[in-house]
Amino acid sequence: MNKKKIVVLTGAGISAESGLKTFRDSDGLWEGYNIEDVATPRAWRRDPKLVLEFYNYRRRNVLEAKPNAAHIGLAELEKDFNVTIITQNIDDLHERAGSTNVLHLHGEIFKMRSEKSYEPVYEIKGDINIGDMAEDGGQLRPHIVWFEESVPKIEEAIPIVRNAEIFIVVGTSLVVYPAAGLVNYAPWNIPKYIIDKRIPYTSEITNITAIEKPATEGVGELITLLANYK
Ligand SMILES: NC(=O)c1ccc[n+]([C@@H]2O[C@H](COP(=O)([O-])OP(=O)(O)OC[C@H]3O[C@@H](n4cnc5c(N)ncnc54)[C@H](O)[C@@H]3O)[C@@H](O)[C@H]2O)c1
Repeated sequence: MNKKKIVVLTGAGISAESGLKTFRDSDGLWEGYNIEDVATPRAWRRDPKLVLEFYNYRRRNVLEAKPNAAHIGLAELEKDFNVTIITQNIDDLHERAGSTNVLHLHGEIFKMRSEKSYEPVYEIKGDINIGDMAEDGGQLRPHIVWFEESVPKIEEAIPIVRNAEIFIVVGTSLVVYPAAGLVNYAPWNIPKYIIDKRIPYTSEITNITAIEKPATEGVGELITLLANYK
């Protein structure tokens, strides 16, 4: 039997209950930093040491965090559905929960690359320091899409969303583009669900069911609703 295609767009809210802070819940500061100082190409040119320290700190946080019931619930959907997760998150909690098909739109905290090129990408579990060089002689930087940088994976994500048979959004404020624009590519007539502890503005999206709950609770409820589509 053909399994139905579920596509899930996730954001920082799904990892909040794993102890990883969301960006917009913290008054414009991210772990105490201004975004402009740590997550832009200009910040990297001005003070690469600060940028590396910020991501080294976040890498340690992610290493300590564990997948929560929302990550695990989405991974378990693979038993009955063909699931693709498109995440804005740079953590690996979907993978650690068992999801096998995860596309990271904004890069991955456990990867790094030369500041001079997109490839090759190297694994990194520890810190990146000034003076750590790639084979091409460029300083190594986190494999993260910073603000004002392009999002190459969006091209891969759009056709996946277009082919969805069920579309789910979890824990994203839907304000960071182009990721937020993906919701507009979901076919108008398929069932859609949005889970967020504060549902963002989505009035132009048809056929959508809002579950205004924390992700762990909301995904539990969603799984019950999805039983109708197995
Ligand atoms: N490139 C960078 O360095 C950089 C810097 C900052 C943000 N960003 C990107 O921008 C994106 C920001 O967008 P976002 O939408 O992912 O995060 P966000 O912080 O903008 O929004 C988080 C959403 O999660 C919801 N939420 C919080 N706790 C929740 C919970 N327990 N259960 C359910 N929902 C909960 C909030 O209501 C909110 O809608 C990030 O994913 C990140 O990739 C990038």
